[in-house]
Amino acid sequence: MDLQKLFEVYREQGVPHDQQMLIALLREMQDMAGGTLTEDVLFQAASFYGMKATLLQALIKRVPDLRMANAAHRLEMCASCKAGYGLRAWLEDTYGVKSGGSSESGGFTYRTTPCMKNCKNGPSIRWDGDVYSHADRSLLIKLIEGKA
Ligand code: FES
Repeated sequence: MDLQKLFEVYREQGVPHDQQMLIALLREMQDMAGGTLTEDVLFQAASFYGMKATLLQALIKRVPDLRMANAAHRLEMCASCKAGYGLRAWLEDTYGVKSGGSSESGGFTYRTTPCMKNCKNGPSIRWDGDVYSHADRSLLIKLIEGKA
């Protein structure tokens, strides 16, 4: 069964309002994904049900047998920095990521964000919560490959 079908079936069972059914859905999604949940599937569920993915993440933290895939790092890139356009395209191409998803290798999650209030020093990125200025390919390679 594909995810959209699964979401429809669970909507008939009371998701997203029935929390027990929501947990049952997350368990099934986790099984389908091979034992862990990814940001990508959470975002798909959140957008299907018109809810925030952060609510699902908070629920996952409270249910011991639900687990997020180990995306070790979190990369955010300012979507408003004009100078970052080419860098974002390069990153998405090179690492096979789209905003809201994880890299193909699973090493980091990726999301574009609104202005990080660091425009003069753009392109701006955030890596595990720390803002970096004047980001370029070599900085991203160093961070992603653990050589920074
Ligand atoms: S536009 Fe990118 S930090 Fe402001």
